[in-house]
Amino acid sequence: MIERLEDIAVRMVNEGRGLLAADESTSTIKKRFDTIDLVSTETSRRDYREMLFRADEAMRKYISGVILYEETLFQKAADGTPFVDIIKAAGSIPGIKVDIGAKPMAYYPGETITEGLDGLADRLAKYYEAGARFAKWRGVIAISGALPTLGSVRANAHALARYAALCQQANIVPIVEPECLMDGKPGDHTIERCAEVTENVLRIVFDELYDARVNLEGMILKPNMVIDGKNARKASVEQVAAQTVKVLKATVPSAVPGIAFLSGGQSTEEATAHLSAINSGYDLPWKVTFSYGRALQDSALKAWNGKQENVAAGQREFTHRAEMNSLAAKGRWKKDLEKAA
Ligand code: 13P
Repeated sequence: MIERLEDIAVRMVNEGRGLLAADESTSTIKKRFDTIDLVSTETSRRDYREMLFRADEAMRKYISGVILYEETLFQKAADGTPFVDIIKAAGSIPGIKVDIGAKPMAYYPGETITEGLDGLADRLAKYYEAGARFAKWRGVIAISGALPTLGSVRANAHALARYAALCQQANIVPIVEPECLMDGKPGDHTIERCAEVTENVLRIVFDELYDARVNLEGMILKPNMVIDGKNARKASVEQVAAQTVKVLKATVPSAVPGIAFLSGGQSTEEATAHLSAINSGYDLPWKVTFSYGRALQDSALKAWNGKQENVAAGQREFTHRAEMNSLAAKGRWKKDLEKAA
């Protein structure tokens, strides 16, 4: 039986659960492994992801879905069990990153256009067959004094909308991710500048989604928070929450069931504190949760350190972050809970 897109989308953001973004491309996971001096091979990537997906408490209680890279969608654990089956057995939903990366955009120096539309309908059919029920596509928007340009924002928004329509036609929920970079270059922009750019980008993205006839009730938005650049961070937790809520309320229709933030280079605890502040004290028309990569994995990767004997330690770290972010998705995280752990 084919499950309705609307129902899958609700399951992805309900009850304080959120998404684990484990869809690092082969070149990105290599960079993460370099930080622990681990060589990236198909086996080491499998062992790392197996550690995460077999953290049963985290997966059952806090993680509604996992965004996978294509290799991982078709990969098996050391004992031969497909990863998709492990994820589903924990009551979580397998998803897949389907873009093939942000490439330099012709005639737009310093900006990128995300590729991957050609042949996407056929790939989506294959991913559905393999068990994927949602997908992700990331458009990247650079922020500086002069950037982004309207041309780059329009091109990326158009690609996101075409991707989203193709996903829905294949019975796959699209995660629409327009990321206004916090950690790009020079990374010295103010929170006000981020608010202005993010608001403009989201307006254009929703225009394009409308023109592409995307069903808003069957998608999830994955935006950046409104935050100052990584090299100029000074906005308080309350400011980040207030500005983020203001921009989202001005641009995201209430037909969208859920918003799941990316962490974008925030520290693990910042990402949690911001999400909790957004979920306390505001009346929001959507479920608001996490879809974190680095902010869910950094401490687990360090604790694991590429060693079999550290699997349990890595899983404890991952479970802790997943629990903290789940509390934040309900607006109930407190700093003392970090210390207590
Ligand atoms: P971060 O949370 O590390 O930004 O990753 C989320 C993601 O999926 C980026 O595309």
